[in-house]
Amino acid sequence: MNRIAILTRDCGGVNAAIRAVVRTAAASGLLVDGVLRGYEGLIRGDFVPLDRRSVSNIIGLGGTILKTARSETFTTDEGQQAALASMRARGIDGLVVIGGNGSLSGARVLASKYGFPVVGIPATIDNDVPGVESAIGADTAVNVALDAVDKIRDTATSLERIFVVEVMGRKCGWIAMQVALSGGCEEVLLPEKDVPIDALCEEIVAGRARGKASWIIVVAEGRSTASGVASAITAATGLETRIAVLGHVQRGGRPTAVDRILAARLGHAAVEALADGRTGGCVHLRNGRVEFLPFGTAGEVKITDIESDYHLLKVLS
Ligand code: F6P
Repeated sequence: MNRIAILTRDCGGVNAAIRAVVRTAAASGLLVDGVLRGYEGLIRGDFVPLDRRSVSNIIGLGGTILKTARSETFTTDEGQQAALASMRARGIDGLVVIGGNGSLSGARVLASKYGFPVVGIPATIDNDVPGVESAIGADTAVNVALDAVDKIRDTATSLERIFVVEVMGRKCGWIAMQVALSGGCEEVLLPEKDVPIDALCEEIVAGRARGKASWIIVVAEGRSTASGVASAITAATGLETRIAVLGHVQRGGRPTAVDRILAARLGHAAVEALADGRTGGCVHLRNGRVEFLPFGTAGEVKITDIESDYHLLKVLS
């Protein structure tokens, strides 16, 4: 293997992973190209050479220096063949894909359908890659959302108000559960667990009667919208309820130390895997050690032990 390419999505820690891939490759004498704008750029042959110096000072930057885009064309045979032709023309003989389930399914197509050497690095705020404990970017997203919840609590306490905070996560409640636990929130509404709104409203009315003044309810976008939950609470209790939809702020910002270190480990491991011929899967950490997970391995999307974490949240709130 002489020349590898890196293709990315965006979230906190992706630039740190690019740096780790480029510098590990450089140390092994491999040439590296960045692919601009994801699979769309792969199809068009938009490559940019990356050397040790081109990744200086990016370790703390959010987003991806390579930019990214969704690609409908890559879902077609023609798109996939065009992407392979671009890589062949450039002399690329290995690919590192850094991203979530969408990006990794593209990687799986290149590996399983065309036999191209690809190694994936899970990076998504949703932390919903089956069989993977921690994706790059998830810790940063939780910390961004937690910072917002801490600030909202100041107003919630001062004005004795109910707040519903909507967090991202696609169909997964991982961010919501982490934020609710770390923010000391009163309730969390997850796609994975049915907490009836009626029961929540009864709890709020009973709490008010006992003198409890404020609530922060975290809702995962995969379960409901903040406005839907807030309207239901106001309709049932008559209490004023405010909302905050955190949205894309969770995907940006300076990566946490946890994400930077994860990125360093996985970026390094991805290049080693490519060089050793272990391809067609993801590198990830299990119990602190790098493991290789073949694409398509059935695995759990484990958002923690939901029942025991939910019990903990309710006991402590
Ligand atoms: O998968 C990451 C994520 O930020 C999800 O949490 C969210 O549902 C989705 O992407 C938003 O996608 P877009 O940036 O295309 O609106």
